[in-house]
Amino acid sequence: MERTCLAIILAAGESTRMKSAMSKVLHPVAGRPMIAHVVDALASASIADVALVVGRDAEAVSTAASTGSVNVSSFLQKERLGTAHAVLAAREAIEKGYDDVLVVFGDTPLITAAPLTAARERLAEGNDVVVIGFETADPTGYGRLIVEDGELLAIREHKDASEEERRITYCNGGLMAISGRKALDLLGRIGNANVKGEYYLTDLVEIVRSLGGRAIAVKAPEEELTGCNTRAELAYIERLWQQRRRHELMLAGVSMVAPETVFLAWDTELAQDVLVEPNVVFGPRVRVESGAVIHAFSHVEGAHVRAGATVGPFARLRPGADLGPKSKVGNFCEVKKAEIGAGAKVNHLTYIGDAFVGAGSNIGAGTITCNYDGVNKHVTRIGENTFIGSNSSLVAPVSIGSGALVASGSVITEDVPADAVAFGRARQEIKPGRAPILRERYEAEKAARKKINASE
Ligand code: UD1
Ligand code: CA
Repeated sequence: MERTCLAIILAAGESTRMKSAMSKVLHPVAGRPMIAHVVDALASASIADVALVVGRDAEAVSTAASTGSVNVSSFLQKERLGTAHAVLAAREAIEKGYDDVLVVFGDTPLITAAPLTAARERLAEGNDVVVIGFETADPTGYGRLIVEDGELLAIREHKDASEEERRITYCNGGLMAISGRKALDLLGRIGNANVKGEYYLTDLVEIVRSLGGRAIAVKAPEEELTGCNTRAELAYIERLWQQRRRHELMLAGVSMVAPETVFLAWDTELAQDVLVEPNVVFGPRVRVESGAVIHAFSHVEGAHVRAGATVGPFARLRPGADLGPKSKVGNFCEVKKAEIGAGAKVNHLTYIGDAFVGAGSNIGAGTITCNYDGVNKHVTRIGENTFIGSNSSLVAPVSIGSGALVASGSVITEDVPADAVAFGRARQEIKPGRAPILRERYEAEKAARKKINASE
């Protein structure tokens, strides 16, 4: 029979060391609040019931944790009296009676399903408390795991540890699986007689042993248990997250020339045989299909790049950009809320916003869709196989019919029918022999100015 599980996420801390106007669990990792990463790890470990313990920024934290992947109910920890006190804020949820109670921290966003599942398996084998630990070269600040003959004797918080205990490099990751049957009784016995005067969840280990129960530790990779207490640790966690995701994508068939310079969002989808050149930044909600190339120094957000399309170098795709198969958006172009049809080219120095560009059209250098009148946004519709001459302004709302040709430098304010040629500019005037006369006049004016300056 499958064992039931309640996960309790602790996210009520003051985040003092973060020095921030908002709770640390709201700070983004890969463009999404850290707490949402924890929730998704629980979902991928097939844990459906989650109790979220909130304090500071309670409402915002609850919202950020509601990713839709699991049921989250929030519990308010009114005072910050320590991690055991925080777990007991979710007493009502624990009382429902689960086989396993899994405590995780909101500030440990790199955790994955594997150690959570491993801890639950060890619980199923008859252990009462299973702590997820890690080995680290720098254990400062972490609780130390005191292990003997495979049994976990105690967890000693850094501040309470002796010199000898501080030399231990096996640390408490802060994540713990507890027998659901015993959880409330054990938690109720925790006191606050320690250096910080807090109720430490970690005391559970000695308590369960004193009652004849069994506690053990399971080891997980250090990376997954990296906690975020400061901005420096936040940056470090971001780096680890990026490394992990780039690696996964490369193993899945994405090429990156200089992976360490490519920045991904939590939901970036890059298909097999996508090539990403150096210095590319992906914001949220991006999907790139097979064979597409993202050239160097491009910034891509909220965009769909279809098979074989190319972007950049130095292109910016903003939300709603939808690039058709084999289309091209080249250097110094910006595309926002616009469909670029199959094989269409927007190659140089162009802004396409609130627009539809038909398949096979060629948008010349410096073309601008003038989509904003200062109050409202308007749409530009460009048909298939059109040619828009360089440096044209398309003043929306306006449409250009399929096959039409717009002369370069045009200001298009009225619809252009299919297959028409539109000259949206004044005709050129030629004045033969006039240049030397003008030049002479300009020289005279310059000399006159010089004279005035000298006499002043
Ligand atoms: C905790 C562990 C330590 C472990 C480390 C791993 C305890 C006593 N110590 O220390 O052994 O090595 O994590 O990262 O458990 N929180 C509340 N309410 C409170 C206090 C904390 O909700 O009253 C939440 C925080 O928001 C945070 C988590 O609990 O998400 C951990 O608290 P934190 O103060 O960061 O604990 P550490 O000192 O890092
Ligand atoms: Ca912490």
